[in-house]
Amino acid sequence: MYLDNAATTFPKPDCVCDAVDRSMRFGAAAAGRGNHQGTYDADRIVTECRRYLAKLLGVPSPSQVVFTLNCTDSLNTVFRGFLNHGDRVLASCLDHNSVLRPLQAMKEQPGIIVDMIDFDPVSGLIDIDMFARELQKQPVRLVVLTHASNVTGRIQPVRELSLLAQAAGAAVLLDAAQTAGHIAVQMHDWQIDFLAAAGHKGLLGPLGTGVLCIRKGLENQLQPLRFGGTGTASESLEQPNEMPYRYESGNLNLPGIAGLHAATDWILKQSLPELHTAAHQRTQRLLHGLSEIPNIQLLTPFTDEITGIVSFNLAFQDCREVALILDQSFDIQCRAGFHCAPLAHQTLGTFERGGSVRLSPGVFTSDEHIQQAIEAVTAIAEHC
Ligand SMILES: Cc1ncc(COP(=O)(O)O)c(C=O)c1O
Repeated sequence: MYLDNAATTFPKPDCVCDAVDRSMRFGAAAAGRGNHQGTYDADRIVTECRRYLAKLLGVPSPSQVVFTLNCTDSLNTVFRGFLNHGDRVLASCLDHNSVLRPLQAMKEQPGIIVDMIDFDPVSGLIDIDMFARELQKQPVRLVVLTHASNVTGRIQPVRELSLLAQAAGAAVLLDAAQTAGHIAVQMHDWQIDFLAAAGHKGLLGPLGTGVLCIRKGLENQLQPLRFGGTGTASESLEQPNEMPYRYESGNLNLPGIAGLHAATDWILKQSLPELHTAAHQRTQRLLHGLSEIPNIQLLTPFTDEITGIVSFNLAFQDCREVALILDQSFDIQCRAGFHCAPLAHQTLGTFERGGSVRLSPGVFTSDEHIQQAIEAVTAIAEHC
């Protein structure tokens, strides 16, 4: 039983596997780089996939959707291309190492200033007063918002935070790794400048796919991370300004994008709100079921505003040992440890314990799976 969907979703819909297979066997041509049917077909897949992603992420135009390697690649593109020496960044203790590590490295070179906002360990919410105060202290060039924590699952009120940031003159980067494909993300309405997401999590595409959405006009302020052939304006030695090619140097991962194309088409046909409601009910059942176990510490708050993540610790047991027993004795695959979010575990008081156990159901998790997971954790708790 796979309960590690927050890491990467599994299984994928059959149509995703078929699309990758078809692309490899019959048409993994270089999109935008030839004059034959294979390249036209590849181009169509890429263009349609941008359109589906724009729809799912609330992006006004598909040309604002850039394909990347993963969410980390999207985040690095913004950090490296947007920030200069002396710029101040506001990030938070909810952030993943894909935010924390690039920012840490950039304190040295090119010399940026990074200030951190903490969150409330009970509600899982960013401290908005502290956020507003930090915005007023000194000018901020970029605010990084993690839409939903990959440890607690708590969804943040990003519209409210984004409007505050915009009012203070800061640009907003949303890390939607744990929400894209799960809930209706509204990049335009929430006034987000940059949106980073993985294609292989809630969007149900293959590993090795990611997306960066860039607000129209901001490409003038964002240097590409990589320069090279784009299949466009090939007579020029200059990197083209044209979106989205400015940020897509080198051949695209066509088999991956073919899979993501099928996945996003599948999500749109199923209807995102329906998928979300069903997944949400299962996560709530898991959360409430686990809460009945004596000596359990739940890190996921009791609220409707969570994505498909439930994290916990058992009082007298190491989280990695619990995950090992779940795997070896109950055939339940999950993840234990820091989940690449060390500061979140410091705030939650679970750092010294080595993190927590995280169960993350997905769209193909059944009610029976949820019941079995509750029974398995109950049995482990009873025997420790
Ligand atoms: C909140 C968050 N941000 C960023 C990432 C990085 O995603 P990727 O591995 O696709 O780069 C993850 C992955 O788990 C995540 O949970």
